Amino acid sequence: MKNTLLYAAIGIMLTSAGCKHDPLYPAGYDPATNPISTGLPCNPDTAYFVNDILPLLISNCAMSGCHDAQTRAEGIQLTSYASVMQTGDVKPGNANGSELYEVLIETREDKRMPVPPSPRLDAAKIALVRKWIEQGAQNNSCLENQGECDTTNMTYTVDIAPIISSNCIGCHSGVSPGGGILLSNYSQVAAQANTGKLQAVVSHSAGVAAMPPGNRLSDCNVSKIKAWANQGLIQ
Ligand code: HEC
Repeated sequence: MKNTLLYAAIGIMLTSAGCKHDPLYPAGYDPATNPISTGLPCNPDTAYFVNDILPLLISNCAMSGCHDAQTRAEGIQLTSYASVMQTGDVKPGNANGSELYEVLIETREDKRMPVPPSPRLDAAKIALVRKWIEQGAQNNSCLENQGECDTTNMTYTVDIAPIISSNCIGCHSGVSPGGGILLSNYSQVAAQANTGKLQAVVSHSAGVAAMPPGNRLSDCNVSKIKAWANQGLIQ
């Protein structure tokens, strides 16, 4: 119930949030409320806010006590396109001039993000943020898996670990993981699948917390997780 209220509140904030004038967009176009869906399969040369950047920010920066809607540490909220563009100091086309990027490559341990003892983002994730900003920091999305979803022969290593790594690990690792639940390796993830909790949270089922908070995995990724569980949680 608490969560329902929370998401309702976020919804109201998003709908009422205005968008700063941004010359990259046509007059009258509000990217905060209208993600640009290419309607095309994901192009590996493009970084997409909806598919790549938002999951990364929610999992690694928008934890409770950090840049979520309640805490807004240092006034920065990283839970939606609108809040990222309004508070994250993103300069479209200029990654080096964007605080959101600078803190990721910051060499001083006491200045970098995520703050220690959380590990730094890996090089591939940092490169993705850089690419997204350099390409204009748009509110863009693409069709994953070319519109088809292959859920045969799911294994943890090939299929499931990357989903968890991109969407969950920031909150479910370290010394105080969300809900006390760790999802850092096969046995920890399999344990949640064995109780049915893993499948329930990503399906946003009633009676469990919806995960990731404030965001949703693609239908294909949800199907992959369910198929993996049905196929016997192969490592
Ligand atoms: C922004 C941080 C965050 C992210 C990202 C996140 N979680 Fe959570 N998770 C939490 C917190 C906090 C809780 C404790 C329940 C609550 O307070 O909502 C939790 C609880 C859970 C639970 C227990 C739910 C229950 O009702 O008992 C499971 C299972 C879970 N998360 C799995 C996941 C999975 C799988 C992902 C990725 C697809 C994920 N989480 C992403 C923060 C997060």
